[in-house]
Amino acid sequence: MDTATSIRDSIFRLRDFVAERIIGQDHLVERLLVALLADGHLLVEGAPGLAKTRAIKVLGEGIEGDFHRVQFTPDLLPADLTGTEIYRPQDGSFTFQQGPLFHNLVLADEVNRAPAKVQSALLEAMAERQITIGRVSYPLPALFMVMATQNPLEQEGTYPLPEAQLDRFLLHINIGYPDHAAEKRILHLARKEAAAEEASGETAPAPSPVLDQAGIFAARRAILEMYMSEDVENYLMEIVFATRDPEVYSPDLGSWLAYGGSPRATLALDRAARAHAWLRGEDFVAPSDLQDVAHDVLRHRIILKYEAAADGITPDRFIDELLGRIPVP
Ligand SMILES: Nc1ncnc2c1ncn2[C@@H]1O[C@H](COP(=O)(O)OP(=O)(O)OP(=O)(O)O)[C@@H](O)[C@H]1O
Ligand SMILES: [Mg+2]
Repeated sequence: MDTATSIRDSIFRLRDFVAERIIGQDHLVERLLVALLADGHLLVEGAPGLAKTRAIKVLGEGIEGDFHRVQFTPDLLPADLTGTEIYRPQDGSFTFQQGPLFHNLVLADEVNRAPAKVQSALLEAMAERQITIGRVSYPLPALFMVMATQNPLEQEGTYPLPEAQLDRFLLHINIGYPDHAAEKRILHLARKEAAAEEASGETAPAPSPVLDQAGIFAARRAILEMYMSEDVENYLMEIVFATRDPEVYSPDLGSWLAYGGSPRATLALDRAARAHAWLRGEDFVAPSDLQDVAHDVLRHRIILKYEAAADGITPDRFIDELLGRIPVP
């Protein structure tokens, strides 16, 4: 077996590992892997109890590295995330004490419960991959992925994420309830897990990870080297440019738009579509890969005017309209 195949097989094993434990949420599982392989961060929106926390935890168990959860609350401070300099009276010096962002997988749970300053500290760290305190910058780990969750049900006492910084997330996904059959499997799995926990007490050994970090970096390299034809590349560009100048396709679309995607949207669409194609077992990117990830890549990067909401136009509808009009190569 050549190395390219074995790298892909090891990622497929990781996907199976996660999918066996997160039942009936195929989209979430697939997007977790897309984000991991595209070196991006994920914003997940969904009702309570849909296994958001469990999903990132399971991914953390599947790969070599450490996992940390931060519950966002109104009294959280930026330094609670980044860390602080601690004064040492012995010699009058300062030493940096790393905050919870210095982990490989970070779950930023209920990110809209903390005020803007804290959210900005998170979003900055996500984009810069380092934390600057005073004049010193501390690099975050080479494998660094944030999954932030947002609960759409509660609006009271929450702080909407700053729209202009949301594009630091590679993907923004929405998840819904599992179907009847999946829910039954969840029930049976939970019973089995609870029984195993009762039997073994606290001493259950942590399962060894399915994949080491070197495997993830090798997969990322393979994905970056994948072939994309010029036609597909032009189609990618056209999708992003259409989010800025939708009048080209229809005057209605233009009247709803406030802001479209930045160059960061172009880069995100490229990397997400590549990872998506690679996970399908392909070695080239097809137009359908771009279409498949377009909503999750663009939904939080398109800012519509108030009139759009009044006309019942959401970013998803807007993206549908664009994709329906742009010629597919
Ligand atoms: N698809 C699923 N597969 C396996 N277990 C699930 C699934 N959905 C829910 N569960 C189980 O339901 C419980 C709730 O999951 P979890 O705590 O991850 O939800 P959450 O989305 O993080 O909720 P909240 O928004 O309240 O934090 C867990 O015990 C989890 O094991
Ligand atoms: Mg949770």
